[in-house]
Amino acid sequence: ERDSRVARIDAAIRVIPDFPKPGILFRDVTTLLLDHQAFKDSIDIFVERYKDLKIDVVAGIEARGFIFGPPVALAIGAKFVPIRKPRKLPGEVISEEYTLEYGTDCIEMHVGAIQSGERVLIVDDLIATGGTLQAAIKLIERVGAEVVECALLVGLTDLKGHLKLGGKPVFVLVEYE
Ligand code: PRP
Ligand code: ADE
Repeated sequence: ERDSRVARIDAAIRVIPDFPKPGILFRDVTTLLLDHQAFKDSIDIFVERYKDLKIDVVAGIEARGFIFGPPVALAIGAKFVPIRKPRKLPGEVISEEYTLEYGTDCIEMHVGAIQSGERVLIVDDLIATGGTLQAAIKLIERVGAEVVECALLVGLTDLKGHLKLGGKPVFVLVEYE
């Protein structure tokens, strides 16, 4: 049953060549959202995996972590915390810089949103180089919370993003080269 669900999820993710730059094969999850069954199956697989793991917080990474994180949080009885690009959150924030192919980027989280000792699941759509997840893990660990796992729809295996995460478990539904 699991395999047929994953096959449908895989088929529902569109590939767009040369977006946003030449040579990039962009994995577009917006087409998954158009297939109600595939969208629901992706959330259900995450919920089945995390419902009994005493997760206090689902942390979703802007922008596509804001689509997949909240339904998981509601279903497993966790709160939802947005991790955002700079200058979007109105309250006091903590920030973590990370390296891109060219230059640096930064993500931010509200102070007080996650408490010391809480068990956190990070949700995003995709892991590529792992830079974004690495920064998110640092942010959450800086406030004394525990990242239990990172859950993603897509893993890009060639980029070996998990190697940046210091052994933190990563769960992906579909892998592409
Ligand atoms: C994409 C994706 C992840 C990140 C993964 O977001 O949704 O958040 O890249 O890449 P990495 O593993 O190399 O860090 P993007 O940077 O396109 O931002 P957006 O969702 O705000 O458009
Ligand atoms: N983020 C980084 N690489 C990506 C890709 N190939 N498709 C979608 N999002 C991405």
